[in-house]
Amino acid sequence: MLIKEAYQYIKGILTPIYGEGEANSITRILMEDAFGYTNPARDGQFPKDKVPLLEAFLKRLEQSEPIQYVLGQADFYGLKFHVNQDVLIPRQETEELVYWILENHPSKQSLNVLDIGTGSGCIPITLKKHRPDWAITGVDVSIGALEIAQQNADRNGVEVAFRQMDVLGVESLSANWDIIVSNPPYIPLDESRLMPKNVLKYEPRLALFVENEDSLLFYRKIADLSLNALSENGRLYFELNEYNAEEVKAMLLEKGYRTVEIQIDINGKQRMISAQR
Ligand SMILES: C[S@@+](CC[C@H](N)C(=O)[O-])C[C@H]1O[C@@H](n2cnc3c(N)ncnc32)[C@H](O)[C@@H]1O
Repeated sequence: MLIKEAYQYIKGILTPIYGEGEANSITRILMEDAFGYTNPARDGQFPKDKVPLLEAFLKRLEQSEPIQYVLGQADFYGLKFHVNQDVLIPRQETEELVYWILENHPSKQSLNVLDIGTGSGCIPITLKKHRPDWAITGVDVSIGALEIAQQNADRNGVEVAFRQMDVLGVESLSANWDIIVSNPPYIPLDESRLMPKNVLKYEPRLALFVENEDSLLFYRKIADLSLNALSENGRLYFELNEYNAEEVKAMLLEKGYRTVEIQIDINGKQRMISAQR
C-alpha cells in the first residue's frame, strides 16, 4: 500500500463513523503522530510491518475511542501531554483559561499558584512553561491522574509539585496562594444523556460529573477554602459550564469576592470566571 493510499484507506473507514471533516482530522493526527507522515500526497510505500499497528488503531477508532486515548497523547497549548483513561482529555476551553491567566499576570515575578483537580496537569505545566519563576502545585483526588501529571511535567521539562487531595474532604488549604485555579467536575448527572457516547464510555466520570442536586458543589467548596488561602489581592479562576456562569458569579459575590469577571470563549460562551479576594 502506498502512503497516499493509506490516507485514503483510513479516511474510507472513519468517514462513515465520524463524518468527513472529523475523519480527515483524525487521519491527519494518526498518520502524523503515530507514523510520522505529514504529507498526504507523499509517494513511497507504507511500511508492511506497521500495518498491524495501523489496523489495531483503526479497530479502536471504529469503537469511537477518542484518538487521544488511542495514541496516548493530546495536544494542549502547543505542548504534548500523555493521556489515558484516568485523565480528562485537555480541552480547548481550558487552553483559553490558561491564556487568560497568562494575559492577566504578565509579570514574570514569582507567584504561588495552586491548581485544584489537575488531571493530566495541563494547566500547571503550561503555566510553568510560560512563567518559569512561578511556584506551582497541582492537586487531585485521583492517584492515577497524579501519575500521569508527573509524567507530563517530566516530558515537558518543568517542575510542578503534585499531591493527592480530596478537596471536598478538607477543612482548609495552606495559605498564601496568589492564584488558585480550578476546572472542577461540573456536569450534572442528568446531563449525561445529552453527552456524546464516546465521552461517556471513555472519559473518567470522576472528572466530569456532580450530583444533580448540587451542581455548584465544587465551586462553592473551592470558593470557601480560597477565601482564607488566597494572598491579599490573590485571584481565583474557574472554568465554567456555559449554563452556570451567572449562578457562580452570584455565589462568589455573596461570599464577598470583588471584581468578579466572566470571560467569553472563542465560541461566544461564558466559560471562565475570575474573582479577587
Ligand atoms: C474536569 S477535570 C479537569 C482536569 C484538568 N484540570 C483539565 O482541565 O483538563 C476535573 C478533575 O478533578 C478531579 N477531582 C474530582 N473530584 C475531586 C476531589 N474531590 N478532589 C480533588 N480533585 C477531584 C478529577 O480527578 C479530575 O482530574
